[in-house]
Amino acid sequence: MPDYSTRTAHILSRIHELAAISEDATGATVTRRFGTPAFLKGRDLVQGWFEAAGLETRLDGIGNLRGRLASRRPRAKTFVLASHIDTVVNAGKYDGPLGVLMGLDLVESIIQQGLDLPFHLELIAFSDEEGVRFHITYLGSKVVTGAFDPALLQRIDADGITLAQAIDEMGGNTAQLAADALPPTEWLGYFELHIEQGPVLWESGVPVALVTAIAGQQRMELTWTGMAGHAGTVPMPMRQDALAAASEFVLATEAFALAHGHGLVATVGQLRIPYSASNVIPGQVIHSFDLRSPDADQLAAAYAGIQTQAEALAARRGVGLTWQLVQATAPVQCDHELNRLLGQAIAAGGYEVVGLVSGAGHDAVPASAVAPATMAFIRCYKGISHNPLENVEAADVAAAMAVAERFLLELKDAHN
Ligand code: GLV
Ligand code: MN
Ligand code: MN
Repeated sequence: MPDYSTRTAHILSRIHELAAISEDATGATVTRRFGTPAFLKGRDLVQGWFEAAGLETRLDGIGNLRGRLASRRPRAKTFVLASHIDTVVNAGKYDGPLGVLMGLDLVESIIQQGLDLPFHLELIAFSDEEGVRFHITYLGSKVVTGAFDPALLQRIDADGITLAQAIDEMGGNTAQLAADALPPTEWLGYFELHIEQGPVLWESGVPVALVTAIAGQQRMELTWTGMAGHAGTVPMPMRQDALAAASEFVLATEAFALAHGHGLVATVGQLRIPYSASNVIPGQVIHSFDLRSPDADQLAAAYAGIQTQAEALAARRGVGLTWQLVQATAPVQCDHELNRLLGQAIAAGGYEVVGLVSGAGHDAVPASAVAPATMAFIRCYKGISHNPLENVEAADVAAAMAVAERFLLELKDAHN
């Protein structure tokens, strides 16, 4: 009987070791955005662990860390076990790394048992899932699934560095990106372990759930252009205050999403006022806008409805508005057959089989375009995520490890 508590303690000690590597030199926050020195240092650490486990390891052109356990079977396909090791700014420790390090422990156990699987197993630590630096998600998994659009290489970060430059600086290779894709015919499937990032499991006390679908999301960049002016001299009715317009937009989208419900969520998470000062009327505001729903029709209707409202608001206030769609991913359904096996593994552990829809984006989204894909969610503290308070209970991780190991063995039997 595998000792899941000891294995979990090992996984969690690695989580803490990795979390100590941050762009923030004081170590007060966990921040490892794609391609930064902290990201590279963290990836080196994880690469050492991949190699110590006995995995054949390489870095691909976009900096994904890829470990392969080859099957001896001729014509074996590849099953991918993955998550990401980049983080948001001021992140928690578990979003991404937990899935990679649980996956590593599972692969290590397969190697130690000398099991010959009927499929190649590829463990991947994706280099960019969060999309924080270039405002585009899934860069790593887009490469592995062959969905990477070379036009993305011209995107710039907040310092004016292009994605192509960032890849060069981190020792990647833009010329190799197409060749780094696993061809669709080689995929057997995709599985990701991840914290839930929502409160359902925390409230119910169930340690692990299967994911039935992942919400679609659209990321926009809005620029409101008014007229900068003196805060003391321009009368209120004569102002074209870009921040007042943006603020009205924020509240209007909140009201829109609240009124429509059914999983529709709308967020302005990043906002910039160029040349801001306390005594200057804001002349320009640039901000993100993140819109999600598990229902494709609802998402499309909300996008159109909010854009129409924003244009009316801009006209009424006499300010300019540029609305740029940065990224759009449709909602995806997780694979029915993989979920049947996962449900079986959860039930065999003695747990209620809970199916959840993910509001968060995951690399399973691009993976589902080329292969059967699913995920398991692990209970996390009060559902808090993208926040340093992110936490897990060791007992829940141990339960999820047992379920994931059983799932992989069921998968092995199903393909024998
Ligand atoms: C990633 O965590 C996202 O859902 O934006
Ligand atoms: Mn994540
Ligand atoms: Mn995240």
